[in-house]
Parts: sequence; structure tokens; C-alpha cells
Amino acid sequence: SSFPVIAIDGPTASGKGTVAQLVANRLGFHYLDSGALYRIVGFASLQRNIPLDQTLALAEMTQALQIEFKGNAIFLDHQEITELIRTEEMGLRASAVGAIPEVRNALFSLQRSFLTSPGLVADGRDMATVIFPEAVLKVFLTASAQIRAERRFKQLINKGISAKIEILLNDLVARDARDTQRKDAPLIQAIDAHLLDTSEMDIETAVQKVVDWYHAVN
Ligand code: C5P
Repeated sequence: SSFPVIAIDGPTASGKGTVAQLVANRLGFHYLDSGALYRIVGFASLQRNIPLDQTLALAEMTQALQIEFKGNAIFLDHQEITELIRTEEMGLRASAVGAIPEVRNALFSLQRSFLTSPGLVADGRDMATVIFPEAVLKVFLTASAQIRAERRFKQLINKGISAKIEILLNDLVARDARDTQRKDAPLIQAIDAHLLDTSEMDIETAVQKVVDWYHAVN
């Protein structure tokens, strides 16, 4: 395909999802939240009681999932699961299924199918390295673990969910470690990716930086 892709990878709670979505809006591009796909696989594996060591069954289940994105709403087999997959529990389960190569392979074509006219902003862990290596712009978006834990804390409190910063920090450090250390498609900055550290940057500044980088090459 000749449509441009902007690949944005980074650790959990870095703000990459928000930035990616806003960049997509600004450019009129499609948006792929690949983390949602891993969360859906995690959710479905729990719902259907498929243990993590049954890799073939997990891959077959993944291939057969009916996933639909309608605006910001996400549907699995026609049931809305938008909020159900956003919990910390599903984040951890997503990270566990994401460590299974058969699951990653089963999601490959689905992710590629999001690339349609006029272009795509894709966010995840391996967008620049594995799924869209041809991306015209690659961004590794990060922030310090402490700042990311504070951002996640504020998000949860705003939703009326109680949380403890120390526990959130612990969870996200554990998830980062698993995502960074896995053999297949680990979280890593692509050699040709721009580093964007948003520890002391507001969202609008980060969005503008990505849009400027994009216009510098396209
Ligand atoms: O980005 P999000 O927090 O929703 O991702 C949940 C988990 O899914 C991540 O911790 C990671 O293990 C996995 N994931 C992945 N590859 C992607 C996107 C997400 O392995 N491209």
C-alpha cells in the first residue's frame, strides 16, 4: 500500500494513545489502537476459559474474533466492551497474551488492514519495528515511570475509581519489564524513530511536534 503510516510506540500510560488519536484527527487519518486488540484477546481468553499455555487454541480464537471499532466504541461479537477492556486487570492479561508469538501472528493481518486511504496513525509497542516497518514517521513516545503512574492515577480518580499511586507504579513497571524483555516483538525504540519524552510536555505540544515531524517528510 502507498498510504502513509505514522507509527507511535511506547510504554503504558505514556500518553501515546491520546497523542496518536489527536494526530489522526488533525491529519484526517485513520487510527489504530493496537493495544485494544491485545486487551480484547485477553478479555476473550478469560471469558472462554482458555489458559495461556494453550497457544494453538488462543491463536484460533484470535483469528475467529469479530472485532468492530465504531468511533470510540469497541465491540466483540456484537457486544460492547469499550470499558470492560480498560481495567488494570485487562492490561496485565493483554501483556500476558502479547508475549505469545502465535497470538501476535494471528493479529498481524488484522492490524495491516487498518491501513487505508488517506493514511493511518498506529499506536502500540511494535508498530514501527514489526507491523508497519515502512512507516514514513516513527515516534517512540515515553515519560518517566513516576509521571506515568501519576497520569494513570488522575485518570482513574476522574472516573471515580479509587487507586494507589505506589500500586499503579508497581504494576506499570512490571508490565514494561514484560513488554521490553519478551523475545517476540519487544517494546524497543526503532533505530529510525524520533524520541519524544513527554514527562514535562503537555498534550498539545506533543501533538504539534508529531505533526511537524510528519510535515517535514510529507
Ligand atoms: O497500550 P495498552 O496498554 O492498551 O496495551 C496493553 C498491552 O498489550 C501492553 O502492555 C502490551 O503487552 C500489549 N501490546 C503489545 N503490542 C502492541 C500493543 C499492545 O504487545 N502493539
